[in-house]
Amino acid sequence: MVAPRSRPITIAPSLLAADFGRLREEVAAIESAGADWLHFDIMDGHFVPNISFGPAILAALRKHTKLAFDVHLMIAPVDYYLDAFIDAGANHISLHPEAGPHLHRSLQHIRKAGLKAGIVLNPATSPAWIDWALDLTDIVLVMSVNPGFGGQSFLPSQLPKIARLRQSIDAADHPIALAVDGGITAATAPAAIAAGADTLIAGTAILHSPDYARAIAAIRGDS
Ligand code: DX5
Ligand code: ZN
Repeated sequence: MVAPRSRPITIAPSLLAADFGRLREEVAAIESAGADWLHFDIMDGHFVPNISFGPAILAALRKHTKLAFDVHLMIAPVDYYLDAFIDAGANHISLHPEAGPHLHRSLQHIRKAGLKAGIVLNPATSPAWIDWALDLTDIVLVMSVNPGFGGQSFLPSQLPKIARLRQSIDAADHPIALAVDGGITAATAPAAIAAGADTLIAGTAILHSPDYARAIAAIRGDS
């Protein structure tokens, strides 16, 4: 008999790996495959060496799905663009502490608009960044690749960081999701979950597979 898992796993497919010529159908397929959130990777070609898409894409898709829009901003300076993503229908906005001068103020702004606020930690970014902002944080997102591109390999060096963040989150007085983003597959997910992750973001492993529902179940550990 398999031991029951201690916490439910949230799966957030990343639209970055979708067929951009069929976005609406892709979102419908992701939703009916059992995804929990829809992850949007917003890249400016400056904070990260790649350009993806902007708030107009969120706004266009908003009326076609009930999935929570989980927005990962890889743009700097980030503050000028928060309202554009709030207005476009984001439910969560996560940002990198390196992308603006006042992380605390940015989180306050997102929370004040009624959204969930997240902090994203690059592979070399210290987990200590969250310590004095935990009261304003709903999501802590550990990058298990360097941000900018899908299809990279999972960095096992991030597993101890996930474990350390799990301790801080468990000591908080409100629920905080512990997400991992980059190189998540059915093969790498178990280590991330064992280290303490409860939310897995995956692009390639879901959207480049022939059966999204099966890929999601495999990452979740249900198959
Ligand atoms: C990378 C992004 C990831 C990426 C994940 O900058 O933050 O969300 O889309 O893609 P895979 O799952 O292919 O590593
Ligand atoms: Zn992402």
